[in-house]
Amino acid sequence: MRIVSFEEYSEFLKRHEHVIIGDKRIALAGKKTVTQYRPVDDSVLQRTTVWSFPERGNWATHRGDYPGNWSPYIPRNLLLKYTEVCDIVLDPMMGSGTSIVESRLLCRNAIGMDINYNAVMVAFDRLNFHYDGCKIPIEIRLYHGDARDLNLISSNSIDFILTHPPYGKIISYSKKGEVTGDLSTLPYRDYIEAMGKVAEEFFRVLKPGKYCALLIGDTRKNKHYVPIAYDILQVFLESGFILKENIIKIQWNTTKTSKVWSKLENDFYLIAHENLFVFRKPVSESEYRKYKFSAGRRYGKI
Ligand SMILES: C[S@@+](CC[C@H](N)C(=O)[O-])C[C@H]1O[C@@H](n2cnc3c(N)ncnc32)[C@H](O)[C@@H]1O
Repeated sequence: MRIVSFEEYSEFLKRHEHVIIGDKRIALAGKKTVTQYRPVDDSVLQRTTVWSFPERGNWATHRGDYPGNWSPYIPRNLLLKYTEVCDIVLDPMMGSGTSIVESRLLCRNAIGMDINYNAVMVAFDRLNFHYDGCKIPIEIRLYHGDARDLNLISSNSIDFILTHPPYGKIISYSKKGEVTGDLSTLPYRDYIEAMGKVAEEFFRVLKPGKYCALLIGDTRKNKHYVPIAYDILQVFLESGFILKENIIKIQWNTTKTSKVWSKLENDFYLIAHENLFVFRKPVSESEYRKYKFSAGRRYGKI
């Protein structure tokens, strides 16, 4: 991983008005004036294990234009539940930086990273607005790098990880051969193995007793269900995490799915949910062992 400075982004901005992510063109707007720093209605704070945000949320610089980006209500809910002001938050697959923008608005220190340099530029662009709502100064650091190797982050140093990885190859975040290490270009087995390495790194950098949230969805192949989320759940449990929550997130924007598959609609249900797993790093081997046996499951590690 390599730190990228705001100056580097400023230089990039002089030469680029937009970037391409996969097959999508994303405008770089430079410094922006923000008038709304939070959602109008805080009743969007969730209380159950089913989350639904029909309005995706467009306060601050949030836009729905980055491929597969998550609604800002998701990181907002997670940050308010699992972190305190000045905690250190990590999103190592940040895309357009939705979680990092929310971390800044909620006065958390944040580290963001993406394997795609263009995504890092988009994230800087989304952070390019004036904000003085924090009483204590906070630090935001953005990196270009691979979530499987967080070599510049010390073990047991992060208070909260929240991330939204590619769902296998469902959406491509780069063209073939363009970005080495982009997990959205890997065959399924390699992808799951790579997510195992991601899980190990997350486990290493997270402080014991702290949480890691991950949004992931499923797909279909040959009209049958491919439970990506449950394969990912398995690799995270095998890395030593224990499961705190399994939240069902209703999907509202299934346009691509329904367009492609509308003719087949009678054959199967359109997938309209994702899983938001919240894992906890146990404080000790004995806590892990206790969970493993109380959950009645045989997890790989012990
Ligand atoms: C679903 S998108 C994240 C969207 C983000 N939550 C947002 O709101 O914009 C997944 C991101 O993972 C990144 N990615 C893919 N492989 C990666 C890797 N090995 N390390 C870090 N990032 C990776 C992609 O470039 C893409 O930006």
